[in-house]
Amino acid sequence: MKIKRIIKWTARALLFALILAFLCGFIAYWTSTNDCGRTIPAGAERMKAIKYCEYGSPDDVLKLEQVEKPVPNDDQVLVRVRAVSLRFYDGGMLEGGIGRLIFGLRKPKNTIPGSDFAGTVEAVGRNVTEFKPGDEVFGVRAGALAEYICVRQAGAIALKPANTNFEQAASIPTALVSLQGLRDTGRLQKGQKVLINGASGGVGTFAVQIAKAFGAEVTGVCSTKNLDLVRSLGADHVIDYTKEDFTKGEARYDVIYDLVNNRSFAERRRILKPGGICVLAGIGGSGMHKDTLSNLAGELTASLRSKFGNEKFVLFGVDINKKDLGVLRDLTESGKVLPALTKTYPLTETAAAYNYLETGHVQGKIAITIE
Ligand SMILES: NC(=O)c1ccc[n+]([C@@H]2O[C@H](COP(=O)([O-])OP(=O)(O)OC[C@H]3O[C@@H](n4cnc5c(N)ncnc54)[C@H](OP(=O)(O)O)[C@@H]3O)[C@@H](O)[C@H]2O)c1
Repeated sequence: MKIKRIIKWTARALLFALILAFLCGFIAYWTSTNDCGRTIPAGAERMKAIKYCEYGSPDDVLKLEQVEKPVPNDDQVLVRVRAVSLRFYDGGMLEGGIGRLIFGLRKPKNTIPGSDFAGTVEAVGRNVTEFKPGDEVFGVRAGALAEYICVRQAGAIALKPANTNFEQAASIPTALVSLQGLRDTGRLQKGQKVLINGASGGVGTFAVQIAKAFGAEVTGVCSTKNLDLVRSLGADHVIDYTKEDFTKGEARYDVIYDLVNNRSFAERRRILKPGGICVLAGIGGSGMHKDTLSNLAGELTASLRSKFGNEKFVLFGVDINKKDLGVLRDLTESGKVLPALTKTYPLTETAAAYNYLETGHVQGKIAITIE
């Protein structure tokens, strides 16, 4: 009798929790909104920006519009943006999908896309000491596809490498993924052997160069059309994944830097040296493709299975910070790393840039110029 009562009340409590969760989700969904209906106050300065008010495909939702020009506060720098480089998550932000949980349930909260920028400081707040008007800078700030952005002095912003143009400099923040993945998670050392799976994309082209700068022996995995590019970046060996399975060879690696995760745990462990590390850094080229979810599953299961072995498969997540932007500037100015920028677009062709990114087969980096 008592058990029956417990079951009855548990069922009621669960039902109540479910209804409550559904109601909260419903309310959150319908109240999620953005600034798209807002008019620019009379007298406010204007600028051009790319906007998207709803989730959808780049051709449908990206619009070039006039918006209010931002004003820096005491701790901010006003940057005249000259170029923005697209990175793997930019397309996902437009499409919504699971990203709605972060970017806005019904509509995107932040309506100006893009994040990796380069430009010139136009004005600084009264507490800013690190930058002055005229400085050329690069960094990461949400809402970068606009003529102007405000960035906190303490945020992810650094002086631009002197030997790069704005499009190249805007491409550099992607290299945070390559730098931290190899240095902090892979603990790559001089003389070690590293295999980079996915060597021809945004992260991979930087990873090849950074691994060489660390003094490693680098093997890059890419498709036939990208072999020359990856070789030209300094890779000692290249493997064409359309012709050869990199897990079947005789070579053994200290570090696998895996941007694709399309091979099984056992296959990858076989080519790791005893005690080697596989950095689980990505799930293939940008966008959703037929193997994206299976690559994601491969990444997660490899991380779990390696808990019981000598070889480590470690999940990696980038930390966007100012200090490492400085490290990348130094690597660039020393000539050890140069962005493999392969295509630029004018602001009016932003949708075309997104469409190319979402193929998952971009060569190196692409950038959008803001005249
Ligand atoms: N963990 C993190 O914090 C973090 C941060 C940023 C990015 N990521 C991940 O890193 C991955 C790479 O990002 P990205 O910006 O470099 O993307 P991307 O620029 O879109 O990468 C495109 C490249 O992927 C290559 N590729 C596609 N399928 C391949 C395969 N089966 N084998 C080898 N290469 C393949 C393509 O070469 P082909 O045309 O020759 O196929 C292309 O050059 C993404 O999965 C992204 O999610 C992770």
